Amino acid sequence: MKTPIKVTLTGAAGHIGYALAFRVASGEIFGPEQPVILRLLEMPQAMSSLNGVGMELEDCALPLLHDVVLTDDPSIGFRDADYAILIGAKPRSKGMERNDLITENARIFSAQGRAINDNASPNVRVLVVGNPANTNALIAASNAPDLDPRHFTAMTRLDHNRALGQLANKTNSLVVNITRMTIWGNHSMTQYPDVGNCLINGTPALERVTRDWAIDHFIPGIQRRGAEIIQARGLSSAASAADAVVDHVHDWALGTPEGDWVSMSVASDGSYGIAEGVFFSYPVTIKDGEYEIVQGLDIDDFSRNRLDISRNELLSERAVIEELLP
Ligand code: NAD
Ligand code: LMR
Repeated sequence: MKTPIKVTLTGAAGHIGYALAFRVASGEIFGPEQPVILRLLEMPQAMSSLNGVGMELEDCALPLLHDVVLTDDPSIGFRDADYAILIGAKPRSKGMERNDLITENARIFSAQGRAINDNASPNVRVLVVGNPANTNALIAASNAPDLDPRHFTAMTRLDHNRALGQLANKTNSLVVNITRMTIWGNHSMTQYPDVGNCLINGTPALERVTRDWAIDHFIPGIQRRGAEIIQARGLSSAASAADAVVDHVHDWALGTPEGDWVSMSVASDGSYGIAEGVFFSYPVTIKDGEYEIVQGLDIDDFSRNRLDISRNELLSERAVIEELLP
């Protein structure tokens, strides 16, 4: 029997947390041979609801779930965590942009960065989901000086999966046959979903769709998808966000398939002219738990402009929360 992996979920009684906890516990992320211990962290006022989640987990009698810890104390929630998935934050409502949440949510991520630094495994991998996710990841990583900033990431996998879905629909193909999708930039209206390198059954996607479709429909469609879901449901995406967490952490732990890559927001190392340190979504390949930014992709004038717009937005978000960066 393998040693259980300890996974902390914050905001575990919320909509995404509820959709995610059971999938982590049933082995969808780490596989059918790998036991897990869940450490579920919530606000004191949500503990009753979290207790209900705990009861339901128990009622599933999941063979891989070795223990569940329910707490509102970050030092217990993050103790020895191998993975910390930071969901707990306020979601936007109709009419808001994701970075309207910046000042409300930023303090959560500075406190949690410190708590992770002091309590988690030294090799912990952190995924930030709570919005604005890229800048929250910057705050959390900056407040965890003893940990490797490469082990902090923010989620653009939902945008990546949305982009696969839209391209599959448009070309009447299957998502499994599409490779090399890329989301560049911020998880926001300035993100740049890029079909320029995509292959469908090994053939360039740009032989099946026009550049005009990409510019007029595909890019704004992915940028606006989160708002469209809020408009339709009255709530922000939850099941699809949980699904994207499963994909992100699965690939981080177990690697990306040969010949393909995924989109992840990671601390920029200056690649593609992006200021070092800001959390920017790049195409990455992953092996043995470590990602590499895909290098050498062609960036034409249109793409350069899109990357710069998103980089500038991230720099202005960073300016707003500068006081939270030690
Ligand atoms: P929700 O309101 O249903 O749940 C959030 C939960 O977090 C609540 O139960 C709340 O009590 C808890 N919480 C708040 N502060 C906390 C803290 N300091 N510690 C622990 N728990 C805390 O919201 P949701 O729909 O689950 O969304 C959560 C976040 O995820 C939002 O910020 C939303 O915008 C974001 N989100 C991101 C993506 C993405 O692709 N990156 C996708 C969907 C949603
Ligand atoms: C999404 O993309 O669905 C989430 O980030 C929620 C939101 O505010 O759009």
